[in-house]
Amino acid sequence: MCGIVAYLGDKEAQPLLLEGLRRLEYRGYDSSGLAVLNGKGLEMVKKVGRIEQLERALGPNPLHGSLGICHTRWATHGKATEVNAHPHTDASGKLAIVHNGVIENYGTLKKKLIEKGFQFRTETDTEVLAFLIGFYFDTLNSETENRLEMAVMEALREVTGTYGLVAIHQDQPDVMVGARRGSPLVLGIGPHEHFLASDVAAIAAHTQTVAHLRDFDVVTVDRQGYRLKSLTHNAPDESGLEISQIDYQAADAEMGDFPHFMLKEIFEQTLSIQNAVRGRLNLEECTAQLGGLNLSPQELRDIDRIVITGCGTAMHAGIVGEYIIESLAHVPVEVEWASEFRLRNSPLDRRTLVLVVSQSGETEDTLGALREARRKGHRVLGICNNVASSLARETDGGVYMYAGPEISVASTKAFTSPTIIFVLLGLLLGRMRFLSASQGLQIIQAIEALPDQITQVLKQSGHINQIAEKYSYSRSMLFFGRQMQYGIALEGALKMKEISYIHAEGHPTAELKHGVIALVDENTPSVFLCPKDGAYDKNINNLQQIKARKGPVIAIATEGDEEILQQADDVIYIPDAPEYTAPILSAVALQLFAYHMAVILGRDVDKPRNLAKSVTVP
Ligand code: F6R
Repeated sequence: MCGIVAYLGDKEAQPLLLEGLRRLEYRGYDSSGLAVLNGKGLEMVKKVGRIEQLERALGPNPLHGSLGICHTRWATHGKATEVNAHPHTDASGKLAIVHNGVIENYGTLKKKLIEKGFQFRTETDTEVLAFLIGFYFDTLNSETENRLEMAVMEALREVTGTYGLVAIHQDQPDVMVGARRGSPLVLGIGPHEHFLASDVAAIAAHTQTVAHLRDFDVVTVDRQGYRLKSLTHNAPDESGLEISQIDYQAADAEMGDFPHFMLKEIFEQTLSIQNAVRGRLNLEECTAQLGGLNLSPQELRDIDRIVITGCGTAMHAGIVGEYIIESLAHVPVEVEWASEFRLRNSPLDRRTLVLVVSQSGETEDTLGALREARRKGHRVLGICNNVASSLARETDGGVYMYAGPEISVASTKAFTSPTIIFVLLGLLLGRMRFLSASQGLQIIQAIEALPDQITQVLKQSGHINQIAEKYSYSRSMLFFGRQMQYGIALEGALKMKEISYIHAEGHPTAELKHGVIALVDENTPSVFLCPKDGAYDKNINNLQQIKARKGPVIAIATEGDEEILQQADDVIYIPDAPEYTAPILSAVALQLFAYHMAVILGRDVDKPRNLAKSVTVP
């Protein structure tokens, strides 16, 4: 959630750091700060609010220096105030750190430091860490060559919790030390310069050569280069860091001609769906090929239950996936919130496949679920977008989304990509069980038709905008869907509430009469997902129950359905598609609906209040 960027090289640090921060702002943004080291000592500026506030403060008085650290914060411990913003300094004011993660035993450490006479200025766990590192720094002889590195390592040995951090110290003005446990940190290697960042997006414009730190790695960067140590042993780490070239064009993270990243990403779904499918269809055998699963045909055949887990939008994709896989492959599927799964003793057996879904691959609860399943000896596969994430490293295999960077806090591509991957998985498992070749071929044809069909939905953006305008008075909305559209009702409601702040609830359609109908009145619109499928008549029946109570209805229906025009107040048509690909089309329509509503209401679409892109705290 929070973002870190650090620089040591032959250029001015401030412009590079601010540019990196802007690229990370989507991760969290209630305050930010920047510190540099130069001949004059440690200089630092912190501001509450957006990066613009920090830029404005630095504008007339830039901080000069070629070594610096900066941070965007999303408050966990302590309010969003200037004093709680990062960087945090130690008691001497000469050491500064930026930190992502949570120091779980900070209370105990703080007490110990208070007993030694230290006085704290903030409520944060990060300040305690800064004081602890500073304390060890000051106990070391000033001639000690690796003084900052040693102090960081001593302090981290006492810490329980998670961190991605970078430390600098005025008395070692050409050194920065980075460390990782549980919170990502990547080293960027350029000619005469190095970066440390929590996300490659921050540095991709400057170098494509990166190394991802592993848990317990400590990297010390100076003007000669970098060296690696591990907290599990003090000596230089012989195994070294694995250096790779990233395939990440900084331009992918630009908005281009779109007014918001969310709209750009909604429109990118014609492409992201193709990327998720490319090379994965086997026309000859009428099946899918998912080599990354690392499972033999026999092992695939042996799977008799699948548990899908994730958070938020990823979890909603899992709910759609449950219906898809059960329908195409007849393999029982259960979906669980990762935050619940990780804490309970979920009964899994030898033939259960655990599937974790995550865009970022860094969501704390999803990683917790992954680790819990692996601890119990289960094979865990991932559906993930970030190929350099902890999830990608820790799973036994899986399927990448290849959706490209998703910058907007509200997930769009990372909903439709796993959904189509579930269709591929359903096809693969189904063809190993009872689906015929001709049924397999029909599914392939439906998959191949999707990009054009998504384009058809996107063309209705103007019409959807008008509908949003009409209902922008709403304080509350209801979303209803049945079967494969049930997950879309949940996701449509989530999109609406998170970016427009209109209260929204998603429900299985028939549940309406078991309580929800009490909420229906003339000011509470219902979004009804009722494509032409086996449940159509039942849906119309439920729709009429809403109309009978004067509730306005916006229907998502299949092109050519004239009857719906008599029933609903407004209609958004999606192209005719089988029940397993139709959810992708209705999801795109509801993403546009939420997007336009948020714009009409003047909300900050890409950076909704209180939310962060990647939730790396429990
Ligand atoms: C909603 C949204 C969140 C994420 C959730 C999981 O639009 O973006 O609900 O889906 O925080 O994130 P990932 O997929 O990165 O694990």
